[in-house]
Amino acid sequence: MSLRDVLVEELKDLYSAENQLVKALPKLVKASEDEELSASIQDHLEETKGHVERLKEIFAQLQSKPTGKQCKGMEGLIEEGKEVIEEGEEAPFGDIMIIGAASRVEHYEIAGYTAVIEMARALGEDDIVDLLNQTLEEEESARDKLKEKGQALIQSAAQEADAEESEEDEPASGRKSPASVGASQRSTKKAANRSSR
Ligand SMILES: [Fe+2]
Repeated sequence: MSLRDVLVEELKDLYSAENQLVKALPKLVKASEDEELSASIQDHLEETKGHVERLKEIFAQLQSKPTGKQCKGMEGLIEEGKEVIEEGEEAPFGDIMIIGAASRVEHYEIAGYTAVIEMARALGEDDIVDLLNQTLEEEESARDKLKEKGQALIQSAAQEADAEESEEDEPASGRKSPASVGASQRSTKKAANRSSR
């Protein structure tokens, strides 16, 4: 076995992973309550189709075929994502869980692309390095967006829990805490659906 063989094997694994994602991401888009989250997963679905195309181009350059491998790691991560969807927790908890599942996917892909870029660079395959770097950048920006959205949802969930607790402490005060104002202004698909009815 040569380094080039390892590169081809790893690229096949990524090709399988990306193809599995193209099928799985629409389910996460549908299941996300938060409009921004749903839109950013949708955007990344479009990028993911581009990742498949780049890998095809890379295999053509390597005069090899991307077939014959099933990425079991991605299969497991997608399975976990399906479980999250099936649990169907209400917002923001369901969305926080979706972000957890999607972030695991991005980190897994980032690890994979980081390794193949290193190998392609060592083999002097500069065109392939360029293509892979474009994909890696998109994976990293998807990861960053998920992280940011996750932080916002987690914070608002924590503030809401605090507000509920202090309401229980002072039932007669009637004051509205900033956290509960924020919570009622939060836009979710459910809220949008309600107002359009
Ligand atoms: Fe990707």
